[in-house]
Amino acid sequence: MGTAGRRNQEIYDLVGIGFGPSNLSLAIALDEHGASAQQPPVTSHFFEQQPTFGWHRNMLLPSTTMQISFLKDLATFRNPMSRFSFISFLHASNRLVQFVNNQDFFPTRHEFHQYLEWAAAGVGDQVTYGTEVTSIRPCAEAGGQAPDLLEVEVRGSDGTTRVVTTHNVAISTGLVPRLPEGTATDERVWHSSEFLGRFGAHAPDDLKSVAVVGAGQSAAEITRFLYDSLPHAQISAVIPSYGYSIADDTPFANQVFDPDAVDEYYFGTERARDAFWRYHRNTNYSVVDADVIRALYQRSYDEQVRGSRRLHFRNLTRVAEVNRAGSGTRVMLRSLLDDRTEELAVDALVFATGYDGLDPARLLGDFDKHFQRDAAGRHRVERDYRLVTASDLTCGVYLQGGTEHSHGLTSSLLSNMAVRSGEIADSIVLRRTERELDRASPVKEAPSAA
Ligand code: FDA
Ligand code: NAP
Repeated sequence: MGTAGRRNQEIYDLVGIGFGPSNLSLAIALDEHGASAQQPPVTSHFFEQQPTFGWHRNMLLPSTTMQISFLKDLATFRNPMSRFSFISFLHASNRLVQFVNNQDFFPTRHEFHQYLEWAAAGVGDQVTYGTEVTSIRPCAEAGGQAPDLLEVEVRGSDGTTRVVTTHNVAISTGLVPRLPEGTATDERVWHSSEFLGRFGAHAPDDLKSVAVVGAGQSAAEITRFLYDSLPHAQISAVIPSYGYSIADDTPFANQVFDPDAVDEYYFGTERARDAFWRYHRNTNYSVVDADVIRALYQRSYDEQVRGSRRLHFRNLTRVAEVNRAGSGTRVMLRSLLDDRTEELAVDALVFATGYDGLDPARLLGDFDKHFQRDAAGRHRVERDYRLVTASDLTCGVYLQGGTEHSHGLTSSLLSNMAVRSGEIADSIVLRRTERELDRASPVKEAPSAA
């Protein structure tokens, strides 16, 4: 579309892709910026493929708790006075006093979901649900590209597509479920990200034997849930380690999630970054909260006391192969102890095998070649979370997620999202001001030499 065709169409300052907690937090940061700043508000709109707001709904298992303090909510670390804080939510829900009496920093995931839904409703005019963004491309203008504009293609739930124009995008499409190579999901083989939906599609009697693969938080929570929900079933936990390892959330280690740690990681040496991962990967990956580990061990011990077993831990074991036939699933398990394989027949198999990070290339397609990569082939990202361009493009592609290599461990987590969203909002406003100043005083041509 040329400039003339765009005349009647709004050009946004920002289009947000995905409306999980990260972009919800950004919508709030922009809303609060508009209310307090001298400059005109940032015009923005967000697109979310789900029909309504939902945060890992398929893992909303009973009694599961948050892995961050309630104060690491959508806004407080950026603006403790925000009307979108978790405390405001409790006040609005008439539960503030009871929450304090409960003396727990870690709400249930169910309650945090209620909070997120409440906050999303508060900026509901900023988002269109049931819309999937399918591509991002530079804006074509007569005679070339408009360096400061992007076109975002959006597909509605009825299959119709439309294109919106914007100066910036914030990609926040979340983690991508990971399966062992050569395996695929179906009605009997599930990834943890689809767990409750798949589980609910079966009558309990249909699930007499279930195996859960992995030794992270998802695997442990699902194993506990299956054991409690299916009292007649054999539950096998296929764990690659010798036993579940504890998630380190002690105060000194927890500092890796502080806003300051982002600067130290971003501007640190390669050796410093390596140290973050070497010493502190166990704050998040392949680890389990202590209470869930103890709950599982208690169940296992009670079985020993009773002398009947239906909870089986297969440690130092990985899945080598999965064979599906009808309603049957045969899993080949390889023991790391003696390299022997053993076949296990189950009615359902749950891969709680983790996630890959967000990769913006999927949405950028051909446009991706306009962005720089480092020697290891990873996108180069500015401190303000904007992809570094390889050409003279002045439009912005910001990332919320997919920046572990540049910004550290908080990239895929909630801990720093309030501060990160504030930094992205500030960057968009600053760059808009610079663009307007450039337009108001274009660089004068150098006088030709006499
Ligand atoms: P998130 O994945 O939440 O949202 C992305 C959104 O984008 C989704 O709603 C998706 O539908 C949408 N989308 C994707 N592609 C799209 C497209 N093309 N067009 C439109 N929409 C699109 N972290 C933490 O710090 N504390 C915690 O307690 C937990 N707990 C937790 C539990 C479970 C079960 C998991 C799997 C993960 C966590 N995490 C966590 C980590 C988790 O990444 C984090 O909680 C947030 O989900 C990150 O929010 P985002 O908005 O970045 O992604
Ligand atoms: P994860 O921490 O990455 O764990 C994946 C597990 O699967 C690891 O133990 C991994 O082992 C194992 N695995 C991978 N391939 C395997 C194979 N072929 N055979 C056997 N095991 C295999 O993933 P996650 O547990 O889903 O956690 C992801 C994120 O979600 C984390 O941030 C976590 O904190 C969060 N989460 C939070 C909650 C909550 O808030 N209550 C609940 C669930 C998840 P290796 O270590 O050998 O790779």
